[in-house]
Amino acid sequence: MANDIADDLTQAGAEAKDLTTRVLELRDAYYERDTVLVSDEEYDAMIRRLAELERLFPELQSQDSPTQTVGGRAQTTLFAPVEHAERMLSLDNVFSIEEFEAWAARVERDAGRRVDYLCELKIDGLAINLRYENGVLTSAATRGDGVVGEDVTENVRAIASIPTRLAGSGHPPLVEVRGEVFFPVAAFAELNAAQAELGERIFANPRNAASGSLRQKAEGKTEAQLALMRSRLSRLRMLVHGIGAWANPPVDSQSKTYELLAEWGLPTSTHYRVVDSATGASEFIRYYGEHRDSVEHEIDGIVIKVDELALHDELGATSRAPRWAIAFKYPPEQVNTKLLDIVVSVGRTGRATPFAVMEKVRVAGSEVRQATLHNQDVVKAKGVLIGDTVVLRKAGDVIPEVLGPVIELRDGTEREFVMPELCPVCGARLAPAKEGDVDLRCPNAEFCPAQVWGRVEHIGSRGALDVEALGEVAAAALTQPLEPADPPLHTEAALFDLRMPDIFPVTVVVRDAETGLPRLTDTGEPKTDTPFRRKRQKKDGPFDPGAAEFTGDAEYVPSKNAEELLANLEAAKTKPLWRILVALNIRHVGPVAARALANHFGSLDAIRSARREELAEVDGVGGIIADAVLDWFTVEWHLEIVERWGAAGVQFATPGHPGPGSEESVGGVLSGLTVVATGTLEGFTREGAQEAIIAAGGKAASSVSKNTDFVAAGPGAGSKLAKAEQLGIPILDADGFRLLLEGGPAAL
Ligand code: IVH
Repeated sequence: MANDIADDLTQAGAEAKDLTTRVLELRDAYYERDTVLVSDEEYDAMIRRLAELERLFPELQSQDSPTQTVGGRAQTTLFAPVEHAERMLSLDNVFSIEEFEAWAARVERDAGRRVDYLCELKIDGLAINLRYENGVLTSAATRGDGVVGEDVTENVRAIASIPTRLAGSGHPPLVEVRGEVFFPVAAFAELNAAQAELGERIFANPRNAASGSLRQKAEGKTEAQLALMRSRLSRLRMLVHGIGAWANPPVDSQSKTYELLAEWGLPTSTHYRVVDSATGASEFIRYYGEHRDSVEHEIDGIVIKVDELALHDELGATSRAPRWAIAFKYPPEQVNTKLLDIVVSVGRTGRATPFAVMEKVRVAGSEVRQATLHNQDVVKAKGVLIGDTVVLRKAGDVIPEVLGPVIELRDGTEREFVMPELCPVCGARLAPAKEGDVDLRCPNAEFCPAQVWGRVEHIGSRGALDVEALGEVAAAALTQPLEPADPPLHTEAALFDLRMPDIFPVTVVVRDAETGLPRLTDTGEPKTDTPFRRKRQKKDGPFDPGAAEFTGDAEYVPSKNAEELLANLEAAKTKPLWRILVALNIRHVGPVAARALANHFGSLDAIRSARREELAEVDGVGGIIADAVLDWFTVEWHLEIVERWGAAGVQFATPGHPGPGSEESVGGVLSGLTVVATGTLEGFTREGAQEAIIAAGGKAASSVSKNTDFVAAGPGAGSKLAKAEQLGIPILDADGFRLLLEGGPAAL
């Protein structure tokens, strides 16, 4: 690796900075939003690369580098902060037996003698710190940033296997017991089934289920929701894997500690073993590599610890992890499955993407049946044939990936995938957007039903017009052709012209032969098969032609969905300009750029007549977006959308905006001011606080600098508050923040 590291410090510095930003984003997603964006391997590789850069250029090392800190954040908005009596560390990783043996050799060299190791399973759950005072549970906290965690005591009390009072006697005045909370694999499928039935969120894996269950808030829940919350908590389990603060423990090894903790009624694992050499530990690692599924929780590796406690003190710890323990990480889970077909789907932007349709399998904790194959070159490179048995892995426990075929299992019936020349949806000839592009696109952007569907769904989405009744299903019903009827929309140009008869072009009334009551259904059989109508049909009971008599009188009948959709669309016409801009599906123009454009120009006309430099100069826009905006206006059918939406009453200007470049004067009481909101501000969600700042014309920043004018800080505020104090920036509580939003700085 060393030879591909630039010998130039500046370049290494830039790389280290990028890696740091990315790692912090990933940690944030993982610990705060239970979201895994890359595989553990990729994450570990980033950390290792960063560590290597820091080793080669020690100037780059800082105390808060991700190589020196544990993941997670102390400050969250959900729970009160708790300081751990002793820091909660993380573990360093090894990825092969060789690396593990090298680690053990170092340990034995530093210890100056042979060492006993305690081997145990690395539980894929979330770390918890239990504080017992004189044998009574007084606090339970998540790890947070290692120093300060979240107070989850109330929820932990609902976990059956965690004693609120220790058994036996002779308990120390204070002991911190550390362990992992997890959701048993066996209960996981059941949980998701129940969640789905109740319309609640589905968890990607048991770890998310554990984190989601432990970090539930009782406030604002109905009696039924509380019962559900308690039932989820009661299914959580915990296993102890260490101790924190504890003055003079009466034991001298990790294994004896576990025995004592078990005597006190704490849940310890039955899967640990003490071995007298690194070879013994390697055997333990190999054994569980093959028996990962035999355990009640998910395993993401093996933890090997020096058993003797005196050696823990001697070997010490880095700021991040102890030197007396190491985590051996197994390679990501892989399974074999049958590749049934490769089908091509066309998305909102017209990109034609082949994806693998497989026999359903369970991998890394969840069920998989589809995986993207990206493009025809990737299909070739992987060498897979339809009908092959393929190796599938779930990278990062989230994104399934087909690695390649198991060639030995071919029987000659497999066939090659041929990328279609025509769009599988509209029949247009697929082509690269520009010469040299590998990706093929459907050029029929205006009318291809797949693209129109994607765009209409986008229009209804949260970041655009946020039309409740216009989700994926409604968008399909409005745009997908169903023979012999035309879809209500051929393009989004007519979206705001929709009337009830357009939505149900073929709905008629039939009379039930038995009851004589009118029932709603469609004429003809196959075309009843759109999601929109299927939904209606289900509500009204399945249409049985034998039991109904077709009156023949076509009559348009409004449904609740349709009424809601039309009312929502009517209301959407006067939504803020930035939302309308996002709804236009201009490339690269998401909420951030759209807000910047709307603030600066105040109307679509002003944006349209702006020069490239004027657009590019706007803070948050830049050259690429400026070009995309200008390009968008050169397309005839895009202009038709603007024209028809305008004629239907869509408001393309911010009322009262005095024109381009004047955002300072229109921005409201906070114009020109930068405000940072941090911690729990009563009455505001995190996004709500930011929205409020922007709505008042201010800039909502996410970090504190000397350019920050005010910091609004609530309970749980951490480093941002400290920084504000250090820089002498005015700090407001929730009430002060409210005053500022209403009356600007003068009101304070
Ligand atoms: S010992 C000071 N043992 O893995 C050493 N940790 O990746 C503390 N974990 O933060 C950890 N199973 O939350 C230890 N058997 C086990 C574990 C385990 C899971 C977690 C723990 C730690 C993380 C590090």
